[in-house]
Amino acid sequence: MAEIISIENLTKKFGDVTVIDNVNLSIERGKIYGIIGRNGSGKTVLFKLITGYLSPTGGRVVVSGKEIGKDIDFADNIGIIIENPGFLKGYTGFKNLAYLAGIRNVIGKEEIRESMEKVGLDPDSNKKVGKYSLGMKQRLGIAQAIMENPEILILDEPMNSLDNQGVEEIRKLLMELRDEGKTIVLASHNKEDIEILCDKVCEMDRGKLKIQDL
Ligand SMILES: Nc1ncnc2c1ncn2[C@@H]1O[C@H](COP(=O)(O)OP(=O)(O)OP(=O)(O)O)[C@@H](O)[C@H]1O
Ligand SMILES: [Mg+2]
Repeated sequence: MAEIISIENLTKKFGDVTVIDNVNLSIERGKIYGIIGRNGSGKTVLFKLITGYLSPTGGRVVVSGKEIGKDIDFADNIGIIIENPGFLKGYTGFKNLAYLAGIRNVIGKEEIRESMEKVGLDPDSNKKVGKYSLGMKQRLGIAQAIMENPEILILDEPMNSLDNQGVEEIRKLLMELRDEGKTIVLASHNKEDIEILCDKVCEMDRGKLKIQDL
């Protein structure tokens, strides 16, 4: 079946405030989905529900046939960037990724090096992450998201702080990953990213999700 993520009657309330309001979406394998919407409309909360960082008030998210929070706590085939990735300032980019890769221990140094090179970072650099620019940290976050070769990427504003060249490189990388059959869901405020990259676009409006025709 083409569906890889199923979002069903998903609702999230914080106290009395409904932030995600009965959202339904079937996400198909091998496509790039763009989520647009104003600040505070619920994009990041939706991503946190998909990845299991938050649990829903109602409804469910099913990833590759498994319900998040019931069959599994976190989907193991998802790479994620949500808000600012936290890295250890005193270590190099490579060491940070090596440390994080050690948690699941499914990849080695070579995969880490490759993922850094794909986002335009030098794996051999001695520079500590504390001295990275914002865009370099963002690139490292993308490297972290892709390093274990996940089937799904959930990327919350992945182009944040990237320079023009960085945006071009990451666009190309995301399209290559899509062509390899990966599924990508990204939130963006950038019209061009949405138009160039996305196969499907959804707009979040005060917690309701509307699918747009391209
Ligand atoms: N942990 C929380 N507790 C209470 N309210 C929250 C929490 N997290 C998010 N919210 C609220 O949920 C709403 C949606 O926030 P969210 O971060 O999903 O917006 P967004 O669409 O990602 O916005 P932006 O474009 O600024 O990133 C906002 O009103 C926010 O204040
Ligand atoms: Mg957000």
